[in-house]
Amino acid sequence: MTILYDVAVLGAGAAGLMAAATAQQDGASVIVLDHAPEAGRKILISGGGRCNFTHLDTRPENYLSQNRHFARSALARYTPRDFLALVEKHRIAWHEKAAGQLFCDESARQIVAMLLAEAVGCTLRLNTRIHDVTRGEDFRIETDGGVLAARSVVLATGGLSIPKLGASDLSLRLAKRFGLRIAPTAPALVPLVLDSPLPELAGVSLNIAARMGKTSFQDGMVFTHRGLSGPAILQISSYCAEGESPLLDLMPGVDALTALREVKRERPRAEPAALLAALPQRLARAVAAECLADAPKDLANMPDRRLAMLAERVGRWRPVLAGTEGYAKAEVMRGGIDTRDLSSQTMEARNVPGLFAIGEAVDVTGWLGGYNFQWAWASGHVAGKAL
Ligand code: FDA
Repeated sequence: MTILYDVAVLGAGAAGLMAAATAQQDGASVIVLDHAPEAGRKILISGGGRCNFTHLDTRPENYLSQNRHFARSALARYTPRDFLALVEKHRIAWHEKAAGQLFCDESARQIVAMLLAEAVGCTLRLNTRIHDVTRGEDFRIETDGGVLAARSVVLATGGLSIPKLGASDLSLRLAKRFGLRIAPTAPALVPLVLDSPLPELAGVSLNIAARMGKTSFQDGMVFTHRGLSGPAILQISSYCAEGESPLLDLMPGVDALTALREVKRERPRAEPAALLAALPQRLARAVAAECLADAPKDLANMPDRRLAMLAERVGRWRPVLAGTEGYAKAEVMRGGIDTRDLSSQTMEARNVPGLFAIGEAVDVTGWLGGYNFQWAWASGHVAGKAL
């Protein structure tokens, strides 16, 4: 005999567990299915093992989506303070790292334990492959552990990043099959690969401003063996379409040409390398080798034209990219289930009653800093309330 549940949640990750707990606490019978051997694996590895579980100053502007207003309703109905209240109810010690970014003092494992405790009345089936979902009077879910039925199905299997942790396109495939559109997907919050890597600079880090169009982030950048990473790069990567490079200012907060002219005026007898004293040494050496090899011996003889070229190189560097490190290293996927086909109040598909989609599977992608989890909690909560 096929068991009939009120709700089947596909994916025991951040959004799925939140939706399951919320629906079950409101009286629904809920089953959660996941192919992984443990729940919330991405939570466990997040924030360097301490889970940056929210950002206190979360706004719709901190998200990318084809519809920038879509996230507004869910984010307003389940706020960072609501999640923090849950964290405190479970006596999980936390701290604010950078402004607004909240982390566990001890371990991300506490967040998973908290969600499982909240969802304790749900049936949790791990190590379960989902073969197919079809719809008759109810939804029929075929798994390698048998067939079950549910009045509602929640697509919560997340995005495509980190396949070795079990990421899959199940939610995207099922959504497509039920007639929902998919906004183009790509790795986001992802390190960039240089066309001509600079392995000799690996490990060099500095504060930069990274810009794409009107969006810019001032934060750290680190050279890797293959390219560029660090928070400023990860953030701007979400805004780069394929083939596009961000504009990088290696001397943020100052006008590079004015700064170089000042060095020339104040130290006319100095060697040209003095112009780059504000940069980390190894980087300064590399830029000097590239731009100042045939420069005059002292700054007094350095023509303004050369200064302008150097200012362009440090203040407006447009690196030539081979691409990104891809889903293997991306923190999230951008794009996903098209928000035009979902209710922003409930996350239910407009044309498929009983089908819901939440979390990273949906075309709502947060900045670095706790925003992606806040979207998972908020979208999971509003769906759970509507189930
Ligand atoms: P999530 O990925 O959490 O869960 C999906 C679940 O579905 C998983 O349990 C998976 O096993 C399951 N599943 C997938 N395919 C399936 C299939 N075919 N059958 C059955 N089950 C399937 N965000 C943030 O705000 N702060 C942070 O500190 C970090 N840090 C971070 C570090 C790293 C290394 C990564 C990769 C990501 C982050 N993130 C983050 C992003 C954050 O982890 C992510 O946005 C949320 O986990 C998304 O929640 P979801 O529930 O949508 O998917």
